[in-house]
Amino acid sequence: MSERGNFGTKIGVILATAGSAVGLGNIWRFPYMTGQDGGAAFIVLYLVCILLLGIPGMVGEFIVGRHGASNAARAYHLLGGKWWAAVGYMGSVTSIIILGFYSVVAGWCLQYLMASLLGGLNGDAAYVARYFQEFSSHPVKPLLWTVAFILLTHLVVIRGVRRGIERFSNLLMPTLFVLLLIVVVASCLQPGAGRGVAFLFKPDFTKISRGVLLDALGQAFFSLSLGTACLCTYASYFSRQANLLRSAGQIAGIDTLIAILAGLMIFPAAFSVGVNPDSGPSLIFITLPTVFQQAFTPTLGYIVGILFYALLSLAALTSTISMHEIGTAMFYEQLHISRPRGAVLETLCAVAIGVACSLSCGAADISILGKSFLDCCDYLTSNILLPLGSFLTCILLGWVVPRRVVRDEFTNWGTLPGVLFAVWIFLIRYVSPLCIVAVFLHQLGVI
Ligand code: TRP
Repeated sequence: MSERGNFGTKIGVILATAGSAVGLGNIWRFPYMTGQDGGAAFIVLYLVCILLLGIPGMVGEFIVGRHGASNAARAYHLLGGKWWAAVGYMGSVTSIIILGFYSVVAGWCLQYLMASLLGGLNGDAAYVARYFQEFSSHPVKPLLWTVAFILLTHLVVIRGVRRGIERFSNLLMPTLFVLLLIVVVASCLQPGAGRGVAFLFKPDFTKISRGVLLDALGQAFFSLSLGTACLCTYASYFSRQANLLRSAGQIAGIDTLIAILAGLMIFPAAFSVGVNPDSGPSLIFITLPTVFQQAFTPTLGYIVGILFYALLSLAALTSTISMHEIGTAMFYEQLHISRPRGAVLETLCAVAIGVACSLSCGAADISILGKSFLDCCDYLTSNILLPLGSFLTCILLGWVVPRRVVRDEFTNWGTLPGVLFAVWIFLIRYVSPLCIVAVFLHQLGVI
């Protein structure tokens, strides 16, 4: 275990873990879901889910990881017995699949960044739609971007926990925040932007349906990187003094702030030019380039376009780093090989999945049950493996592991006040598992 690193500073812990959480989930998925699900009412539900389920779930994964101080499979094994290692292995597999398809979308962001720089996105709505269609179904271009993104991730991860992950997160996260603020200010200063702000902050509760609630819950899990052993792997690099509850609160706070800022970047500009932001997943690749051109002067539109796709790529990178680290740690510790070799294995697996996902977007017919391979990977992970991983973690901590062990980790062996422990364990034992089962059944179409 001599190669095992750890995070060097408290701020490094927060920024690296927040880097995992902040990603395409915040800047791509959250805005399109908010647009589709009615705005502020969805956001209120989302906040409730983060508070009641997200933060407790995060603390749970932190406990497993810091207790085990090793890769996810071993950490679950150490806490629950040998069968529980399966949860760690499952998380590692899930993360490889997510890394594969996430890199495809991240690769699109790189292409859009380059196109923004070269002015290739200028044109009317039909032109941008055609641009996206032609690019994403091209047999070679998106493939190269996908592989490039995975290799970029690889280069950070092989530098190790402190010199790679922590150092890059400390650099990328503040940059991301500054870029985001610039675009938010530009967007909110547009005439008519107020309607976009109202859409985000004035809830209309008649818009709430069961589907919206479940969407909010699924989004909260995805955005916090819950359920794939990601947080557990990062927590294995935490120190014994780290305050798990406070860290979870801070990370969830940063994640939520960035999601809302992403909304403030997109909706005021969209409303100012009369575009309804309910177009779903294609929002940032088809709707937004046209919105930017219409809402801003040509120079400002050019700059905003570049900043937007740059920050999207940065956010995606800090997340892919975390996905990569899960598998890397598992491969090298479980197979007793060196860390760089573990990283190579992880990269090879991710490239194989990424290539298949990229080709399935139009260049080749790779589909299962009528869904493209990319959609299948997204569905399998977000709707099945992620909730399953979180559910099993709740069962392990709430019902299997002796209460004393869990309380010791929660309170740092009695050095932190344990008043919230009772609330937390109640949420983990009853509320979270029941909610996850509800999401699960809904996703499968049963309720
Ligand atoms: N949370 C990230 C986002 O919002 C995505 C992510 C990173 C993730 N690591 C994960 C999702 C692990 C699920 C599991 O984009």
